[in-house]
Amino acid sequence: MATYVHPSSSPLLTSEGDEKYANVKWEELGFALTPTDYMYVAKCKQGESFSEGNIAPYGDISISPCSAIFNYGQGLFEGLKAYRAEDDRIRLFRPDQNALRMQTGAERLCMTSPSVEQFVEAVKLTVLANKKWVPPPGKGTLYVRPLLIGSGAILGLASAPEYTFLVYASPVGEYHKVSSGLLNLEVNHKYRRSHSGGTGGVKSCTNYCPVVKPFLEAKSSGFSDVLFLDAATGRNIEEISTCNIFIVKGNIVSTPPTSGTILPGITRKSIIELARDTGYQVQERDVSVDELLEAEEVFCTGTATVVKAVETVTFHDKKVKYKTGEETLSTKLYTVLTNIQMGVVEDKKGWMVEINHKCQG
Ligand code: COI
Repeated sequence: MATYVHPSSSPLLTSEGDEKYANVKWEELGFALTPTDYMYVAKCKQGESFSEGNIAPYGDISISPCSAIFNYGQGLFEGLKAYRAEDDRIRLFRPDQNALRMQTGAERLCMTSPSVEQFVEAVKLTVLANKKWVPPPGKGTLYVRPLLIGSGAILGLASAPEYTFLVYASPVGEYHKVSSGLLNLEVNHKYRRSHSGGTGGVKSCTNYCPVVKPFLEAKSSGFSDVLFLDAATGRNIEEISTCNIFIVKGNIVSTPPTSGTILPGITRKSIIELARDTGYQVQERDVSVDELLEAEEVFCTGTATVVKAVETVTFHDKKVKYKTGEETLSTKLYTVLTNIQMGVVEDKKGWMVEINHKCQG
């Protein structure tokens, strides 16, 4: 975790006289919580609209022991990032897509969700309030975590009488901090992450805790992450603990379809578009483990992960090594995507949402 030092002597001031940066050892950032100053909180009664939210000091919240989130896991989360460009503009990547995904999840879990406008505004306000925690260009990003939880008390199984929409943020570096920069995946043949008709296709809090055990088992065997198979046949690949997967063979890029059992990743969707722009044919379809083992290149995508190349996949006693390095599609796509996100190239897609005007360093 990055060390936080109370900002008493920062030499960098904005035009308003505020410190431009929090005192963080940016080089040490990994993917761990560095608490920031503020969070956004709004509440609503079931079926009503959310009240206008407030920016409050970041800190613990008070919730009934009988709340639906504590007892029945009625909760959704999102993840998106704020990027600081060289000219100091701070921008978000496709926040409307996170808002829409939260609405889909809320419908599945019988929750009341904020409007897309309120969601995006809440994210902007949270980032603006924590502006000095947005890392310098090239040193990381501000990870923003919107939560929608059933905060009202309910004893019998039902949806909560009250919901809380909360947004907090933390500066982060790389999610998979592996020395080679490459992933070594283990295909898990024992546990299933998701099943048809379940909640695998929404960002329910309850999808993630069961993944920890197979993830830790893979880690203790020396792998960097775990890849899950479909529950129906055990023959097709689905997703990694926290990201989507793509395989490349010739000019064809294939990735499992978003038919309810994998998370419809926003980075996944963007990478599909960018790969097509690059001249590749992209197929969203069932991808068997056999095909995975015969692929030329494999990579993963996610908000936290970004685009990460896979060096090896191990399935039972078979270990396959893939093409990695500068000439790969994943390197190309990583560069195209992060250049848009960091403002290195013009955002012709209209994906970036600006949240501030140029502030003087
Ligand atoms: C993200 O990439 O934003 C995720 O949701 C992964 C998270 C579980 C770390």
